[in-house]
Amino acid sequence: MDTPVISPPVHIELGDRSYEIRIGPGLLEDPHSLEGLPAASSVMVVSNVTVAPLYAARLMRLLCTRFRQVHLVELPDGEAHKDWGSLNLIFDALLAQACDRKTLLVALGGGVVGDMTGFAAACYMRGVPFVQVPTTLLAQVDSSVGGKTAINHPLGKNMIGAFYQPLRVLCDLDTLDTLPERELSAGLAEVIKYGPIADMAFLDWIEDHIEALRRREPAALAHAIRRSCEIKAEVVGQDEKESGLRAILNFGHTFGHAIEAGMGYGQWLHGEAVGCGLVMAARLSQRLGLVDGAFVERLRTLVQRAGLPVVAPVLDVQDNAARYLALMRVDKKAEAGEIRFVLIDGPGRAVVRGAPDALVAEVINDSCRA
Ligand code: NAD
Ligand code: GLY
Repeated sequence: MDTPVISPPVHIELGDRSYEIRIGPGLLEDPHSLEGLPAASSVMVVSNVTVAPLYAARLMRLLCTRFRQVHLVELPDGEAHKDWGSLNLIFDALLAQACDRKTLLVALGGGVVGDMTGFAAACYMRGVPFVQVPTTLLAQVDSSVGGKTAINHPLGKNMIGAFYQPLRVLCDLDTLDTLPERELSAGLAEVIKYGPIADMAFLDWIEDHIEALRRREPAALAHAIRRSCEIKAEVVGQDEKESGLRAILNFGHTFGHAIEAGMGYGQWLHGEAVGCGLVMAARLSQRLGLVDGAFVERLRTLVQRAGLPVVAPVLDVQDNAARYLALMRVDKKAEAGEIRFVLIDGPGRAVVRGAPDALVAEVINDSCRA
């Protein structure tokens, strides 16, 4: 059953920090998008050099109907710029405009802009409110929701950051029209991950609608975004700061982060690395006797149909498995040097646990030549 293109917001329940995820077309032109936001003398829209020329004027026109001063700061584009230098550009702009502690930050862009804006909001004057306006599929189904904010460190992905929730998430479906095809596929990796960890009926639905999603049919996109946000809201509502359950949202990410860091940030897109990582994590689950080969093949086929890579890259021609293992030991889920993986423990159910290095090495070797 598909979701209508315009549907009620998804609610994320976090007590007095609860908020809505609004999904639909035309949100950047709809004054209702701003209803209920706190008064602020100034707003700082944070975007990047690619997204700002496409959507900043539209968003700023809307913001000007409600707020007196609306500023814009444009960051360089790309994962390679998710760093202290870009973060400082946000602080420079806020201070140059004498923005006070009630200033509202608005993140307009993909996950890179969203994660950095959220971190800036958590730090500026010890915390100012912020709104997420995600413009990639990946950001609409995952990164804009749940309050994880961060920048990268050369030694590890998203290592410096904070949990800090937005006041609202506005997923304007119209913004996906301009998204490059490769980025759309990258977003589908994060959509696919929700099936095996939480909802096999959703995985069936994705299999039936993968071409419609790649064609950007609005009803299919609306349903995929809504169901993904519902699952994420349910998990985050139970475990905001990842003391346990929330880790399942990292299915595919342990291998994926190693690929991103090992290749150099920006070589493989985050979603591409996660897509390949989903298949690797499924293979590891199979080696541990948790799922059968048919399940792995089902997931591999879907990831491939989404336009994502399923053969892992070689990160070191001398000792590839050792390089992967070294990179995975700095994953945030690692405990006392032991890598912990999100594995599938039967369809629709995830578990977080360690695995013998030798077994992981076999999965890496198989995945690099599969
Ligand atoms: P991204 O932010 O780099 O955006 C991808 C590319 O698309 C960029 O070049 C961007 O400028 C461009 N773009 C964005 N919107 C566009 C549009 N509407 N039209 C045309 N071009 C557009 O990448 P992403 O995939 O959105 O996000 C990946 C990041 O998200 C990673 O840094 C990852 O770590 C992070 N992430 C965070 C969480 C979280 O919970 N906070 C979850 C998943 C991923
Ligand atoms: N993307 C994983 C999380 O938000 O926990």
